[in-house]
This record gives sequence, C-alpha cells and structure tokens, in this order.
Amino acid sequence: MVSRNQKQTVYNLTKYKDALPVPPVLKHLYKGEGYTYYEVCMKECKVSVHSELPETTMWGYEGIFPGPTIQVESGERVYIKWKNQLPPVHLLPIDFTVHGAHRDVPEVRTVVHVHGAVVEPESDGYPDAWFTNGYQQVGEKFVKQVYQYDNYMNACTLWYHDHALGITRLNIYAGLAGFFLVRSKREQSLNLPAGEYDIPLLIQDRTFNQDGSLYYPKQPEEPVPGLVTSIVPEFFGETILVNGKVWPYLEVEPRKYRFRMLNGSNSRFYKLKLDRNQLMFQISTDRGLLPQPIGIKEIILAPAERADIIIDFSNLEGRKVSLINEAPAPFPSGEAKNEVRDVMQFRVISKAMYIDTSSIPSELEQLPVLSEKSVVRKRFLTLDHLMDKYARELMLLDNKGWDAPISENPRLGTTEIWYLINLTPDTHPIHIHLIDFQILDRREFNVEKYNNEKVIEYLGPSILPEPQERGRKDTVRANPNEVTRLIMQFGPYSGLYVWHCHMLEHEDYEMMRPYIVIR
Ligand code: C2O
Ligand code: CU
Repeated sequence: MVSRNQKQTVYNLTKYKDALPVPPVLKHLYKGEGYTYYEVCMKECKVSVHSELPETTMWGYEGIFPGPTIQVESGERVYIKWKNQLPPVHLLPIDFTVHGAHRDVPEVRTVVHVHGAVVEPESDGYPDAWFTNGYQQVGEKFVKQVYQYDNYMNACTLWYHDHALGITRLNIYAGLAGFFLVRSKREQSLNLPAGEYDIPLLIQDRTFNQDGSLYYPKQPEEPVPGLVTSIVPEFFGETILVNGKVWPYLEVEPRKYRFRMLNGSNSRFYKLKLDRNQLMFQISTDRGLLPQPIGIKEIILAPAERADIIIDFSNLEGRKVSLINEAPAPFPSGEAKNEVRDVMQFRVISKAMYIDTSSIPSELEQLPVLSEKSVVRKRFLTLDHLMDKYARELMLLDNKGWDAPISENPRLGTTEIWYLINLTPDTHPIHIHLIDFQILDRREFNVEKYNNEKVIEYLGPSILPEPQERGRKDTVRANPNEVTRLIMQFGPYSGLYVWHCHMLEHEDYEMMRPYIVIR
C-alpha cells in the first residue's frame, strides 16, 4: 500500500530525447525617450518537460518556464511592471512554521528580484515587499508596482526569480525564474560568439510524480501531532533540466559557442565538465567578464552562480559530446550519484552554416581595483548550524534570525571586508544584494576553538580563490572549516537590502539577513 505522502516518482525518462529550448526574448510594451517599459505576468501554465511525461502544472513568468529572457543594454533605463495572476492556493506544500509564512499571510505571495542587479532598494524585490494576485494584498515593505532598473552593470549574465519571504524555495521550484542579460557595445567589440551562437543554459533539478506533476517533499513526520511542515534541510531532485527540459540535446555546428551557464537549482551544486575532458574557455563570472579567458576542464557552480563558457566544436563533426556533473550532494560531503551525472548532450552536425569569424580575445575586461588599504570596516560573520524546537536543522548567519535587528550597516561609498566564518558541515553559497565583490582568500581554521573561545585560529595558509572565481562575483562558496574573505564597495544606492544563503531551503528558514547601506 502506498500512503498519500509516499512518492511515486519518475526516474526512467529517456535521456537526450528532446531538443533544448531557448527561452524567447521578452518584447517591450513601450519604448520612450531614454527608457524601455515591460510588463511581465506570472501565471499558472502547463509545461512539457519531457515527451514521455504528461504535462506538468507550473508557474511561469508570462506563463512559460523558464520565463522569457530580458535583454538590456548596460546603462539602459528599464521599467518593469511585475504582475501576479497566480491562483490563491499554492502548488506545493507550504511550511507555516517558517519565517514570514504563517497562517496570517496569504498563501501565494510573490516579489521579483533581479539577481545581480545594481538597483534602488524599492525595486530590489525585498522579501517583505510581496504582493498577491492583482496587488489585492501586499507585504509590509511593498512600495510600488513598477520597478525601475538603471542597469549600471557592465555586460553580464543575471537572472530574475521570486524572493517572497518563507516560500522562495517553492515559488522558484514551481518555475518562477528567467534570464536577465546585460549587453554592451564594449562587449560586442570583443567579437565573442554572438546571436544564435550565444545560448543561456539554466540548469536545475526537479522530481516528478508519474502523472507529470512536480514533487516536493514534506517532512516525513509531523514534529508535533497535527503540525504539518515541509521545510527540509535541502532538496535534491532526481532529474536534471536545462532550460526547462529534462536531459535535452542541442544540435551544434562545428564552431565556437558561448554558453551562459546558470545554476538555478534549490540546493544542488554542479561540477560540470565535458565527457572526454575537453577544454572549455571561461570568459566571465557572476557579474561580468574576467580579465582574461581561462582554459578549464571543469567548473563548480553552486546555486545562483553563473559562468559564461566558450566551447569550440570545430573538428568534432558528427560527434556527440555530453555535459556531465560530478558534484556530490550535499556538497561537499555527500555522494555523487550516477542518476544525476548527465546534464545534456551536444550533437555536432557535419557542416557549419557560416565561417566562424568569432574569436576568444586574450584580454577581456579589467577588474575594478579594491584596495585593502581603503577598507574602513571588517565584519566577522559566522555561518551557524543549530536545531530548532522540533529538532529540525536550522542554519543562521551571525547567529541571528531574519527578524533580529539589522546589524550590517555599511556606509555608502565605503569599502569593507567580510569574513565568512563557516561553522557548519556544508558549503553555503552566500549572496549579497546590490554590490559585486571580489574573493580575497579562503583559510582553514579551528572550528572547535572558535566555538569555545570565539577566536579564529588559522590552521593553514591563505588560499587564493580558484582562477574561475577571480572576477566580479555576487555569490560565493563558503566552505566548511574555512574563513572566506570578501572585499566590496557599497553603492551607488543606499537603503535596505538583504544577504543570504542561496540554498533556497536555508534562505527560507532563517539563513537570510537584512542589511542597510546608510548615507
Ligand atoms: Cu538570487 Cu536574494 O537572490
Ligand atoms: Cu546554506
């Protein structure tokens, strides 16, 4: 007998059966003098994630999954009205015991954050600035319906996704995510592969029931009788999707391509490589181009991290090349499972349509110089591992929950160094809104001594970030037993933002803090 809660999930879908979709580019509604206006509406929709599976009910921006790609020019002013036309009942199990998701708020709330955007606080998608269908109800921090983006970023690969307090993991899992690409004249002049040879890849994991519906776990036991909860320490899906298709293939020409890889998973990390260890060239990190391209054979992407990679398929005519994943889950202490090793397949056709005139230039873009001498403040911030009153895992930042008074209050224009002191057994992808940062180093330390005496005793040398990370970052892997140091300058806006772990199950359950840039 199968109880209602026991899952009957799908695991045997044929790999590389469906073609990779590329999300369409969002069309503007209006282009005025010096600005562009868009509207994006969240709707419930039916999605075919695999041709052997019945359609899946999901939530999508503009009713598609992933949402349409928003494309802007660096410096272009864009207004977006985000609208919610979702049903009043959630698709997935809410946990009414986690912050901001109690019974006294509407079940379906949304707010949109452009991850990596330099944006005024009122348009950043603050978790408490949520709104319901037709703005009938709004959260405490809701200010306006139409968000303004001035796009002061250089060319980079960003993404937009839901950020509603206490249900972000469920809203994103339901499908609320899409690409937000910033282009620039300067980047264009580099002659990188472009147009149809510039393809975003949103990598996610999901589990499906046999009827095609999304599966998301509930805590197996009621912690106290009658209390139904759903927060799990982390979620790992059984199938891998790229751009909304399970294990897709892509026909490519024997030439260079640019792939904008984004890990949009709730908690899963990826260690991505090509099946015969072929060389790839990484040209950018989260927030823009690297100083020089680097040759790599693999890359780790934690949730929300991005990397733009050039793969050259010339001389591979007629061959199949797979993109595979060898990361353990949980990261780094779990096991790397065979079922989720495959990601997608490239099928190289026999002839290029045009001669490949694109290039991989030796210089890309200089990094801003952030000197340690100009630092006005160092902050020591722990990542903590506790138990809640129902004996569930609870992770905190600086030992504080979401509701504790604001403690990170950098002054506008100043430079700070943050020491992320990881006292937990997991790697956490820590994301700070508004700014981009550079990783200074990582260093092993004595966790036990820190727990007892609150002093950092380093056990090893300071280790520079991996070459793949030596660029503009907005999400950093803070490894267990290590202090990770970041340097950043706060601006150009002041006001209320957040920083948090981007493992969505952690973010939704207290591993998020407000911070304020003061004038
Ligand atoms: Cu990708 Cu605070 O988010
Ligand atoms: Cu975390």
